[in-house]
Amino acid sequence: MLNESLPLVRKYWRYMAVSIISFVIGNIIMQMFKRIQRIYTGNDLNGDTGSGEVKEDHYDCDVDHVPYKDYVKFPTSDMIARSRDFYKTINLRRSVRKFSPEPVPKEIIENIIKAAGTSPSGAHTQPWTFAVVSNPRLKMEIREIVETEEEINYKKRMGIKWVNDLKKLKTNWIKEYLTTAPYLILVFQQMHSFTSDGDKRVHYYKEISVNMAAGILITAIQYAGLATVTTTPMNCGPAIRNLLGRPAYEKLILLFPVGYPAADATVPALSRKPLSDIMIDFS
Ligand SMILES: Cc1cc2nc3c(=O)[nH]c(=O)nc-3n(C[C@H](O)[C@H](O)[C@H](O)COP(=O)(O)O)c2cc1C
Repeated sequence: MLNESLPLVRKYWRYMAVSIISFVIGNIIMQMFKRIQRIYTGNDLNGDTGSGEVKEDHYDCDVDHVPYKDYVKFPTSDMIARSRDFYKTINLRRSVRKFSPEPVPKEIIENIIKAAGTSPSGAHTQPWTFAVVSNPRLKMEIREIVETEEEINYKKRMGIKWVNDLKKLKTNWIKEYLTTAPYLILVFQQMHSFTSDGDKRVHYYKEISVNMAAGILITAIQYAGLATVTTTPMNCGPAIRNLLGRPAYEKLILLFPVGYPAADATVPALSRKPLSDIMIDFS
């Protein structure tokens, strides 16, 4: 076998050597490019540990500690009823992908975002920006960006397994809800922020913090009597960020269309895991 292939190796060794060297150089350039991109977008900052190029700062180390007077203790029976009622309300939440164009008062959206802004965050850095889009032209431009990328996702980028896994949801790259829902709420993660002196402020656990805020956001949407669907606009981040004029250190994480469900909206008949499957009791 080895003897048979030796003449081939002798004949083509130059081509093989050039291919290997090109492959290695290509890889090195790709790694350098990715590193520069991460630095530019702020993704390179290790916000979870505070290490990296960020200057140490003590921007709110002098905060007073005050008695926690806002706590309300309910009778146990009320607590049981409240927790049961809340479960009943939140259990009605479904991902809705067809919306009515009926207008929604802006105040409701503002209250929902205020609720999301109560989320805990690593070292209270509050690393989120909620962009609320109701302007029809902007909604259309966002739809065009998302549909262009989603068509590539469905047809080329994501592969047959992803497409098959999504079949039960009956989704495709057409996202009519992006123009029919009265509001789009786009959640940006701030990779870092700035102190009053202009130094970079580390955002600890920024991803977990933003995702927790998003959880409160969809809970508040449901509680207010509106509907949404959690969407992850894959590969659309930079284009949408530029469209909305947001800075490079903000990364688009999630997009929520918000409004009333269309009268003919449907949802897949999915079931949720029972308590026995999701809770392990160590008492
Ligand atoms: C992180 C995350 C990303 C999601 N991305 C999308 C999405 O891009 N498009 C979509 O139609 N639904 C998306 N969904 C919604 C899920 O498909 C939906 O939550 C799931 O099918 C369960 O249905 P339910 O929300 O009605 O309980 C996403 C949900 C989560 C939590």
